[in-house]
Amino acid sequence: MKIPMVDLKQQYTHLKTEIDSAVLSVLDSAHFILGPNVKALAAEVAQYCNVKHAIPVASGTDAIHLALLACGIGVGDEVITTPFTFIGTAEAISYTGAKPVFVDIEADSFNIDTTQIEAAITPQTRAIAAVHLFGQPANLDALTELCRRHDLRLIEDCAQSFGARYDDRMTGSFGDVGCFSFYPSKNLGAYGDAGMVITNNDTIAEKVDVLHNHGSDAPYKHSVIGYNSRLDEIQAAILRIKLKYIDEFNNARREHARHYSERLANSDIITPVEQDNRMHVYHQYTIRSERRDAIHKALTEADIASAVFYPIPLHQQPVYQNDYPGLSMPVAEQTAKQVLSLPMFPELTNAQIDHICDVMLGCLGSE
Ligand SMILES: Cc1ncc(COP(=O)(O)O)c(C=O)c1O
Repeated sequence: MKIPMVDLKQQYTHLKTEIDSAVLSVLDSAHFILGPNVKALAAEVAQYCNVKHAIPVASGTDAIHLALLACGIGVGDEVITTPFTFIGTAEAISYTGAKPVFVDIEADSFNIDTTQIEAAITPQTRAIAAVHLFGQPANLDALTELCRRHDLRLIEDCAQSFGARYDDRMTGSFGDVGCFSFYPSKNLGAYGDAGMVITNNDTIAEKVDVLHNHGSDAPYKHSVIGYNSRLDEIQAAILRIKLKYIDEFNNARREHARHYSERLANSDIITPVEQDNRMHVYHQYTIRSERRDAIHKALTEADIASAVFYPIPLHQQPVYQNDYPGLSMPVAEQTAKQVLSLPMFPELTNAQIDHICDVMLGCLGSE
């Protein structure tokens, strides 16, 4: 039984009538940039996340970059973040001229270890860019408290956590600014690159709005050097359809996670924990095992996809390693050797999950 990591085709097939009609109506309107769908999507996401402002942008990386710029981050500044994330989080910090300062992660949640942040704060520290990795919110109580006490900005990288809640509030609504990616395989995914910045801060919203459209605050008047980072109407129309189903999709992911965890419970595979007061949305279902490579091989041989997110922590990436000589992040480094993400998408079936677990348990038993 061939099982992919994600099955975007199946989701499109279910929503085809609605999506085709939304795309055709954009084509028919011939209004492709900064049109009614982009405006409506911004209002709908702001309402869903219960924030004042949402600014659609071209990607998740752009969302973080523009958010940092709007928070005044630049050359000479330091931004604390996690070494165990997609490169986009750190890249966006580097674009501004600031330095990413890595703080190790918690072994159980894979998120930044907030108990180690204070020791990394220097007079140059201006912000924390926290990631809600794999769909589980980071410790937002600790993060907001640290930022308040040290006068730092909190940027939430919610690329993997659309719809995830902490204390019943949406991720992205706790910090000064929240940043989403709508990359196709994300929980809320477009059919191309797309992203969004959300905030309750009027000044940040205005700055991102200007920056994302060539620094323009009135037609053909340019007050700063900005960027071309607009979300287009076709992607916005598609996202508006999918947004209606996001809770259903996330609940299906949570059901699948429960089924996986039940099946793998009596083995030496470490299944994901869902921490208190948090609603995990399982962008990835990621297990840990000392025998990760054997499991990965057995799954591949059975035609089942699985993936290592992420094999190299950021401080050890070729692009950054010379900037952090001798830096040791023991938990992130060990985690990178043990994690394996299993197929996860709303349309996955219990029969598929059972088959995946049978292959995994069989391989461990036969070693
Ligand atoms: C944690 C994280 N941050 C940032 C990004 C960057 O988003 P994008 O690919 O839309 O630029 C991604 C996803 O790709 C991500 O998973």
